[in-house]
Amino acid sequence: MLLSRDAQSAQPVAIQREDYAPPAYWIDTVDLCFDLDPAKTRVLNRMKMRRNPEVAAQPLRLDGDELNLARVLVNGQGAAFRMEGSQLVIDGLPDDFELEIFTTCCPAKNTKLMGLFVSQNTFFTQCEAEGFRRITYFLDRPDVMASYIVTLRADKAAYPVLLSNGNLVEEGELPEGRHFAKWVDPFKKPAYLFALVAGKLVAREQRIKARNGREHLLQVYVRAGDLDKTEHAMNSLIHSVLWDEARFGLPLDLDRFMIVATSDFNMGAMENKGLNIFNTKYVLASQATATDADYANIESVVGHEYFHNWSGDRVTCRDWFQLSLKEGLTVFRDQEFSMDLCAEPSARAVKRIEDVRVLRTAQFPEDAGPMAHPVRPDSYIEISNFYTVTIYEKGAEVVRMMQTLVGREGFARGMTLYFERHDGQAVTCDDFAQAIADANPDSELARRLPQFKRWYSQAGTPRLAATGHYDAEARTYTLAFSQSCPPTPGQSVKEPFVIPVALGLLGADGRALPLQLEGAAQPAGESLTLVLHEAEQRFTFTGVDEAPVPSILRGFSAPVVLQFDYTREQLLALLAHDTDPFNRWEAAQRLALGAALAAIGDDTRAPDAPVLDEALIAAMREVLRHPTLDAAFKELVLSLPSEVYIAEQLDVVDPQRVHRVREAMRTQLATALFAEWQQAYEDNKDTGAYRPEPVSAGRRALAGMALANLCIAARESGDTVWPGKTLQRFKDASNMTDRFNALTALVVAGHPLAAQALARFHAMFKDEALVIDKWFGLQASAPDRDGDVLPLVKQLTRHADFSIKNPNRARSVIFSYCNANPGAFHRLDAAGYVWWSDRVIELDEINPQVAARLARALDRWSKLAEPYRSAAREAIARVAARPGLSKDTLEVVSRALA
Ligand code: PHE
Ligand code: ZN
Repeated sequence: MLLSRDAQSAQPVAIQREDYAPPAYWIDTVDLCFDLDPAKTRVLNRMKMRRNPEVAAQPLRLDGDELNLARVLVNGQGAAFRMEGSQLVIDGLPDDFELEIFTTCCPAKNTKLMGLFVSQNTFFTQCEAEGFRRITYFLDRPDVMASYIVTLRADKAAYPVLLSNGNLVEEGELPEGRHFAKWVDPFKKPAYLFALVAGKLVAREQRIKARNGREHLLQVYVRAGDLDKTEHAMNSLIHSVLWDEARFGLPLDLDRFMIVATSDFNMGAMENKGLNIFNTKYVLASQATATDADYANIESVVGHEYFHNWSGDRVTCRDWFQLSLKEGLTVFRDQEFSMDLCAEPSARAVKRIEDVRVLRTAQFPEDAGPMAHPVRPDSYIEISNFYTVTIYEKGAEVVRMMQTLVGREGFARGMTLYFERHDGQAVTCDDFAQAIADANPDSELARRLPQFKRWYSQAGTPRLAATGHYDAEARTYTLAFSQSCPPTPGQSVKEPFVIPVALGLLGADGRALPLQLEGAAQPAGESLTLVLHEAEQRFTFTGVDEAPVPSILRGFSAPVVLQFDYTREQLLALLAHDTDPFNRWEAAQRLALGAALAAIGDDTRAPDAPVLDEALIAAMREVLRHPTLDAAFKELVLSLPSEVYIAEQLDVVDPQRVHRVREAMRTQLATALFAEWQQAYEDNKDTGAYRPEPVSAGRRALAGMALANLCIAARESGDTVWPGKTLQRFKDASNMTDRFNALTALVVAGHPLAAQALARFHAMFKDEALVIDKWFGLQASAPDRDGDVLPLVKQLTRHADFSIKNPNRARSVIFSYCNANPGAFHRLDAAGYVWWSDRVIELDEINPQVAARLARALDRWSKLAEPYRSAAREAIARVAARPGLSKDTLEVVSRALA
C-alpha cells in the first residue's frame, strides 16, 4: 500500500491532551488467529464492534503500521474502505457489525521490537504503547477495552510452547507438523496489554494458595539453559502476590500468571495481562552471574509488573497523557514493596536514599532541560519518548506525598475506593487523586486537592528556600519558607505547590528538641510535617531553649530542591546525630557538594590541591569507623555526589573540571582514610553463604568500596599489595558481587592488573550474555585518563560480541559511554559528540525508541561551557538534519534545539 504524498512529507504532528475525545466505536470482542511464521505471519482479526451512541456518527478509522492488508469484510461481505496515511477508513457502517481483517507482517525483519518480533527463534510481542497496530488494524487506544480470544498456530517442533493472555482452553495437532493453542482472557483489556509468545521455552512452576484460599499456577518461562537462574524471580513473584493482598487487599485474579524472559527488549519489562514479558536482565540471576544490585532490581521489577495487574490492567489509563496514573502509582507500590520486604528499619532508609538518588540525578535534570514535562503531559509527538523518569519516579513521589498527607491507613482506604469505583475502567490522574481525597475527607489533601494537583500539571522542580531565626529572649525559633519554580518549555509562570515538609529540630548536643508549634494545641513530639501551600510562609516554634539545628525535609518528604544556608558545623551535627537517616546522609552529601563546588569555582586552584577539609574527612572517618551504623548506610554516606549531580548545581558546566575535582576528592578520601578502608574491608569481606538480602549486600557493597579506595590509594603510593589482593579476590570470589567489585576496583584505579582480570572475566563468562554486558559496560564507563576511553569504546563496538541491534548490548557500550561517563564523553576535541551523533543516526534506522533515548545524552548541552556548548549543539543539529529521521528521535533533537 502506497502512502499518500502528504503522509510521507508531513511534519510529525503533536497530539494534545485537550483534544481527547471518546472513541466513535467500541470493540466488544476480538477473535485473533495467528499463523506464525518469521518471514510472513498471517493474522486474521474478527471483531464485534458497535458505534458509540454518545459520539456523533463518523467513519471508522483503524490504526495500522507496516502491515500488508489482504482483506476487509463487514458482516461477512467485502467492504469498501480507503487508506488515509496509515489508517484504514470505512464509511457507512451499521450500528452493530462484525469486522474481519486479514493482514500479514514480517516478524523476522522487525528490528524496532514493537509489535510481533523474533528473538532467538522465539516470537514475542510488545504492544505498549502503540505496537498492537503493527499486528493488526485496530482502535489502538487504551480506552477501547475488549475481550480477547486468541488462537496460535505454528510449527510444533520449532515452537512447542504457545502462550497468550488468560487461560489455555484448547490445544491440539494440525497437519504438516503444526499445532495450535487457544487462549481466552477472562478480563477485558486495552490492546496495549495483549501478548503472545511462541518458541522453545521451559518453565519453573509453582502452585501457590493466596491468603484468600484461591489457588494459582505461577510460571517463569526461559530458554532451556537458564532454568537454574529463575529461583529469585519466582520468589519475588510469590512475595509480590502475598504483599499486594496483605497491604492493599488486592488479590491475584487469574488462575495462571506467567513471566517470560527475552534477551531482545527495549525496556525493562511489560505488564501484559497474565503474561508479563521481561528483559532477561530482570529475570535471570544466580550468585555466580548476578550482583546484589541485579537481585534487588529483579525483585522490584517483578513486583512492579505484578502490581500493574491492578494498577494498570484492572484499572487502566483513559489516554496516554495519563501514563503516570499507572506508572507513578506502580513505582510507588514497588518501592513500598521493596521497603516492606526489608527486615531491618535501617534497610528501609537505605532503599529510600537510593530512590531519591535516582530522582535527583536523573529526574531533576530532565525537569530542568528541554524535555521537561509535567507528570501529566499536555502534548507529545511520540508517546514512547514519555516513558520518562518524570512520569515514573516523580509520579511516584506525587503518590508518596498523597500518602504523607492522608497517612498510611488513609492511603490504603483511598486505594480501596479507587479500585471499587474504577474497576474495569480507563480513567485519569484526576480520578485517582479524587478517590484518595474522598476516602480522607478531613485530610489536608482533601482540603487542598485542586492546588495539590498542580503536581500533575506544572513541570519543573520547585525550589524551597528556608531561613531560620532564633530569638533567645522569646525562646522561639522561626522558619521562613519561600517557594518558587523555574520556567520550563511552554510554562513560564508557575503557581505555588502544596509541599509537605517533614522536620525536626536538634539541640547543640545532637538531641532531638520537643516541637511546639505556635498556635498548635499540643506538642508534636520530635518530628512533624508542615504543609506549605503559599509562596511564602513562616512557622514559629515556642519553648526552644537553644539555637537549634533544623532537620528539614526529612525522608525527602517532597521532590523539591531545599535551599538552606547550613553552616558547616550544622551539617556536621546533622551527620553525627540526626535521627532521620535520610537527612543524616543528606548532610554528608551537602558537605561534599559544597567542597566540590568551591573547588570548581576556584580559578586559582592547583590541579591536585585538596578539595576536602580536615573536619569533613574526620567526619567521614567517624562514619566509616562507627560501631553501630550499618554497612549499607556507610557506603551511601561515603559515596561522593556524582558528576551529573554536581554539574546540575552549576549554571555553566565545564565537565572536565567537574571530573578532575571529583577524581581529586576520591583520591583524597582514598588516601586519607587508608587505615579505615583496610579495616572496613577486613570487617566486611566475608559475608558467609551468599544470600541476596539488604544487610549482607550492604556489607559486600562497603567491602567493594573499600577495595576500590585501597586500589586508588595504592596507585598514589606505588603500593602493589592491595592491587595483588584485589586480583586474588577477583579470582577467588564465590559470587558475582564480590568478583565484579574487585574487577571494578582494578579498572577504576587504572591498575595494570585490570587488563588480565578483564580478559579472564570475559573468558569465564563468554556464554553469559548478561555478564558480557557488564564487561562491556565497565570498560565504557571507566574513568578517563588522557582521552583513552573513546578509542577503547570504538574498539569495543568492533568486538565480535558487540551487536548494536541488541538493546542491552547497545546500552552496555554506547549508553555507558555517552550517558554515564561525562568525564570521557565531553572531550575538548568534540570527538565524543561526533561519535554519539553517528550512533544515534545508525540506531535510528534499526530501533527508533532506543535511538531516541540515546539522543537525550546531550539534553543539557546549553549549560555547557565553551567550546563544549557549541560543539554539542553542532552534533545535535547534525542529527536533526538527517533526512528520514524517526519521529521519536526528531522530537528529542528538535526540543533540544528549540
Ligand atoms: N509498562 C512497562 C512498565 O513500566 C514499561 C514499558 C513501556 C515496556 C513500553 C515496554 C514498552 O512496566
Ligand atoms: Zn510500569
